[in-house]
Amino acid sequence: MQNTAQGSAIVHLENVGVTYGNGVQALESISLRINRGEFAVVLGSSGAGKSTLLRTINYLTPPTQGTITVDGLGDLSNPQVLRLHRQRTGMIFQQHQLIERYSALQNILTGRLAYHSFWRSLLPLPQADQRLALDCLQRVGLMDKALTPVNALSGGQKQRIGIARALVQQPQLMLADEPIASLDPTSAHRVMTLLRDICQTDGIAALLSLHQVDFAKEYCDRIIGLAHGRIIFDGPPSVLDHHNLDEIYTHQAMAQPHK
Ligand SMILES: Nc1ncnc2c1ncn2[C@@H]1O[C@H](COP(=O)(O)OP(=O)(O)O)[C@@H](O)[C@H]1O
Ligand SMILES: [Mg+2]
Repeated sequence: MQNTAQGSAIVHLENVGVTYGNGVQALESISLRINRGEFAVVLGSSGAGKSTLLRTINYLTPPTQGTITVDGLGDLSNPQVLRLHRQRTGMIFQQHQLIERYSALQNILTGRLAYHSFWRSLLPLPQADQRLALDCLQRVGLMDKALTPVNALSGGQKQRIGIARALVQQPQLMLADEPIASLDPTSAHRVMTLLRDICQTDGIAALLSLHQVDFAKEYCDRIIGLAHGRIIFDGPPSVLDHHNLDEIYTHQAMAQPHK
């Protein structure tokens, strides 16, 4: 099933495929529109292509086939378009990828670096950036941890710093690859609630990958089911049934080297 809603798309993938250098075809002919303000999740077994899809939307893994177009900017294969797209796209990772010995505030400030030239980023960032970083810290409820090194924070707190670092970019799109996979259920709910509320308030579109179907149904307004690098379901949680879930999860992805 394909979601045919023609909302205002931020990013448009057309027949996107990714074949890795070792011949594994991780994505096959993906056509997908990510719409303004939506909170969408990608579900799929391990190896289905979820991480590759998220990375492709930021050209961390460039597609080997098809095109990705960003509204108002153009084709992502253009380096100028890619630079602007990355500036306004926040990334959140399962292992948060924070610099452990830096304070929470310093980590959040690294989210502003894309807005400055290389030589400028060697100097202390402007006060406006610092104010913005403090504002983001406040929004994730960790103002009292501003000067605490990240390695002294809990897993849930680290992920909230990860959200603040993405938010300080003032993004229009958040890409989050299994943001709650390493968290206990209470922290996971807290992180999901925070992420959804921030995205809603700021009108940021989000595309997440999750392992937990129950979390996807509770928090997201669109579910994209991936198997073997193809979209096999795309719709609201209310229409996702057992048959769909069987299709998404019973076929363990077996990506074969492309002949
Ligand atoms: N850097 C890589 N080089 C080669 N193959 C890869 C690479 N990353 C992922 N793959 C393969 O691509 C397929 C999809 O992987 P991935 O996107 O990580 O899936 P998921 O996130 O759903 O588990 C898998 O078969 C995986 O082994
Ligand atoms: Mg993955």
